[in-house]
Amino acid sequence: MQQRTIHLFLVIMILSTPLRALSAGLVLQCATASPFVNYQRRQTGLDAYIETQSALSIKGVLANIGPDGSKVAGAAAGAVIASPTKFDPDYFYTWTRDAALTYKMLVERFIAGDSSLRTKIDQYVSAQAILQGVSNPSGGPTTGGLGEPKFNADLTAFTGSWGRPQRDGPPLRATALILYANWLIANGGRTQALNTVWPVISKDLAYTAKYWNQTGFDLWEEVSGSSFFTIAASHRALVEGSALATALGQPCNGCAAAAPQVLCFAQTFWNGAYVDSNINVNEGRSGKDANSILSSIHTFDPTSACTDATFQPCSPRALANHKAVTDSFRTVYPINRGIAQGKAVAVGRYNEDVYYGGQPWYLTTTAAAEQLYAALYQWDKLGSLSVTSVSLPFFRDLVPSVAPGTYAKGSATYNSLTSAVKAYADGYMAVVQKYTPSNGALAEQYEKSTGAQLSARDLTWSYAAFLTAVERRKSIVPPSWNEPANNIPPTTCSGTPACNARMTFNVRIRTVPGENIYVTGQLTQLGNWDPNSAQLLSAGRYTDSDPLWSATLDLPSETVFEYKYIKKTANGQVVWESDPNRRTTSSAGCGSSGTLNDNWR
Ligand SMILES: *[C@@H]1O[C@H](CO)[C@@H](O)[C@H](O)[C@H]1NC(C)=O
Repeated sequence: MQQRTIHLFLVIMILSTPLRALSAGLVLQCATASPFVNYQRRQTGLDAYIETQSALSIKGVLANIGPDGSKVAGAAAGAVIASPTKFDPDYFYTWTRDAALTYKMLVERFIAGDSSLRTKIDQYVSAQAILQGVSNPSGGPTTGGLGEPKFNADLTAFTGSWGRPQRDGPPLRATALILYANWLIANGGRTQALNTVWPVISKDLAYTAKYWNQTGFDLWEEVSGSSFFTIAASHRALVEGSALATALGQPCNGCAAAAPQVLCFAQTFWNGAYVDSNINVNEGRSGKDANSILSSIHTFDPTSACTDATFQPCSPRALANHKAVTDSFRTVYPINRGIAQGKAVAVGRYNEDVYYGGQPWYLTTTAAAEQLYAALYQWDKLGSLSVTSVSLPFFRDLVPSVAPGTYAKGSATYNSLTSAVKAYADGYMAVVQKYTPSNGALAEQYEKSTGAQLSARDLTWSYAAFLTAVERRKSIVPPSWNEPANNIPPTTCSGTPACNARMTFNVRIRTVPGENIYVTGQLTQLGNWDPNSAQLLSAGRYTDSDPLWSATLDLPSETVFEYKYIKKTANGQVVWESDPNRRTTSSAGCGSSGTLNDNWR
């Protein structure tokens, strides 16, 4: 039964939402990669490779940003194109998440002294202001549209089927822009911060404060539930956004109140051994997912004291999680075979992945390195390193004799642990080096048996991820987001008070005794497309002349959602309505009501 649920769920995902992941994966599952490039087999040392690859990576990022990126002709100013690849897979779009993470890196570089990036950053701000006003399948500017995951390269709406909404985009973009706004305030640009950047940030924060407690698709665009990455990014953005609002004398409605509750909710992803990256969904996976490592590096605060609650890179929980996630790839990829425990391996998204056959990715491999470089920075600042019962297995892989305890900077144990962690982190960069073609191009993935590049070429995020890992390796760190004053979750969690609309679903369909009609769709209340969690309609008013099935359900108000009716036969068979999915908006206002009159199709 369990197996069947998952199978049906996946089938529905494939039929109803041809995602970046699954759709292309199906097309290409039989293709095998040909190792057509010459791989540089570690002829050069790691330091030299990192210098060369860094220069190529910043060029690679800029080549994918409009209006003048050399590989993305036609992209609007400030639009970050995910990859120049337009076919198998088509990534010639601007994703809010990829763009925000890329610009977070660019703003960090700008703050660290690369003033040539100023124009590009201002173009990004303008482009995002435009995108926030574009109505799209996730909603309008104030009705959920900011959760739309991707747009066309000319900044118009993408209207095809997709895994939407994705709620990590607004908080990630807020963080990138808050870094810039804070720099402006400190450098004579307060007016620009207030009049140009804050309006974009404030909309993203309002979205985050309003929707953090609703389900949405994860960063891999496959699972609709609660994603740790989204929640971690939301907490950080609300904390620093609320401080920026105060600095600018502006309101940030709900930011300060929501932040501790988001942190409280974040704690529930910890299952005692690692972070279960997706909850509030039954996706049939272990939950070990690079999602959590990416969360840790995104919310890294250089002034933090290894807090578990905010999953800081040096926290015991994040280190135990690092081991759990990276170990999960040791046996699934042939290129990892024979690599001893404690030595770096190729890292993918999650070990049950089937996209392109389930392969390692560059950006997740560099993330495994980046977390450790960031942790090394934190221990150095703290002046000590603690090994706890939670982090002991992580450290034992590197230094088998280590015992729990706190080791002061300069002590023999501190030195041996930190050099082992540094060597381990460098190992992940060496894996990337080994599987990078000699021209330095970083695609999305590399093949698990041959190491040849796969999927989209010149992935902007691959380059950006390489660059942030290198920055941390050089101890170049972003400003604090004030984690130390915002890292204690409340003792009891509460979600956002429900603002529901009473929606009546009426559908006309002739049925025979034993058959039942249900509604399911992308909302938690509709069972997230899982037929077993669909809502039963009543045939109480069904007549021969009016074959009505009906149900009235409380749904989040003023929310765009997709749905379908399903029929379950007497022997348990599930029959779906034909495509496309139905899409509507629940009525506006808490306690309001609305009616949908549909005919089965
Ligand atoms: C909403 O927040 C509550 C309290 O933390 C939590 O139990 C619940 O799972 C959350 N739901 C979603 C969809 O975020």
